[in-house]
Amino acid sequence: MTPNKANYIIRFFLGKGGVGKTTTAAAYALKMAMKGFQTYIVSLDPAHNLGDVLDTELSDEPKKVYENLWAIEVNYEKMIKNHLKQLSEKIKDIYGYLKIFNLEKYVDVLRHSPGVEEQASLDKIIEIIRNYGEKNKADIIVFDTPPTGLTLRIMALPTISLIWIDKLMELRLAILERRRAITKITGEEYEVEIGGKKLKIPVDAAEDPIYKELLNLKSEYDWIYNILTDPNKTLIALVINPEMLPILEAYRAYKFLSKIGIHTEYIILNKVLIVRSVPEELKPKINEQNKAIEEARKLFINKIFTEIPYLPKEPRGIDDLKDIITYIENIS
Ligand SMILES: Nc1ncnc2c1ncn2[C@@H]1O[C@H](COP(=O)(O)OP(=O)(O)OP(=O)(O)O)[C@@H](O)[C@H]1O
Ligand SMILES: [Mg+2]
Repeated sequence: MTPNKANYIIRFFLGKGGVGKTTTAAAYALKMAMKGFQTYIVSLDPAHNLGDVLDTELSDEPKKVYENLWAIEVNYEKMIKNHLKQLSEKIKDIYGYLKIFNLEKYVDVLRHSPGVEEQASLDKIIEIIRNYGEKNKADIIVFDTPPTGLTLRIMALPTISLIWIDKLMELRLAILERRRAITKITGEEYEVEIGGKKLKIPVDAAEDPIYKELLNLKSEYDWIYNILTDPNKTLIALVINPEMLPILEAYRAYKFLSKIGIHTEYIILNKVLIVRSVPEELKPKINEQNKAIEEARKLFINKIFTEIPYLPKEPRGIDDLKDIITYIENIS
């Protein structure tokens, strides 16, 4: 499909460590920019190497690296700090009346809690889609991702969170229902004192800050879930090498992504050894490679395949990336 201002598209490049995600994502982004599309490439990897591949220094702010092409390396520390700041502000708003609640300690614990990196990364993805996709700046947003495990956890978050939020909303409604029942029996409304002011404890969902926050969260997660699971908008390119381990890992990722409704369209078989007359010592290696390629083609039978040879030189900078473009013509 062809992207346009009203209908930006998102591509995630995913795969095992070192297979060539950053290199192929950058080559794809350059290809689309050269076709005239406003393209943003964003590295979500805490161990960035997008700047190395583009051969330029990058930061949290978009940098124009070629005509129509902007690159961003997300600042991980800043991203997590912002996430925790927003979270603690929300908690303060909602639970401000609970003086007994030691918020500073709570945030401190949160920083080291499992899932914080994933949650903060998802917040960042949402922010980038809002700022560049929804505000009509980008036709294409390309995400270069951390190795598979972390990326899958980030991508599964909307699905998992929506299940949680539904349960929490049910629970909250049950709590409010009990409060209403108690109020009816005792005939009095309960109040708390905040900063010298008396406030009524809410018994209706419409007045309850916790229920309202759950509704907000639900609508935010619904929004991102719909974007990630819309194949007209978001597609995954799985990057593999002609070796069984990256192929099997990619296959598991593909299965998992399908389960949560995210569409894998492209398989990029990177670093394929192409030797015209194979020397004796390399024959076993080439045999293994051919077997792995055969297996990959069987596992990903309905996907669009692309092969990139093992290049004699590590691709770095725009000119080297231009050489890769010829191999990825069928990725759009
Ligand atoms: N087709 C290729 N031919 C030769 N070298 C390649 C090719 N593709 C990538 N490389 C080299 O392989 C190494 C890993 O590539 P890259 O950094 O793109 O992988 P990655 O999947 O993003 O890695 P990480 O998981 O560490 O982020 C780099 O040194 C890169 O220059
Ligand atoms: Mg990388």
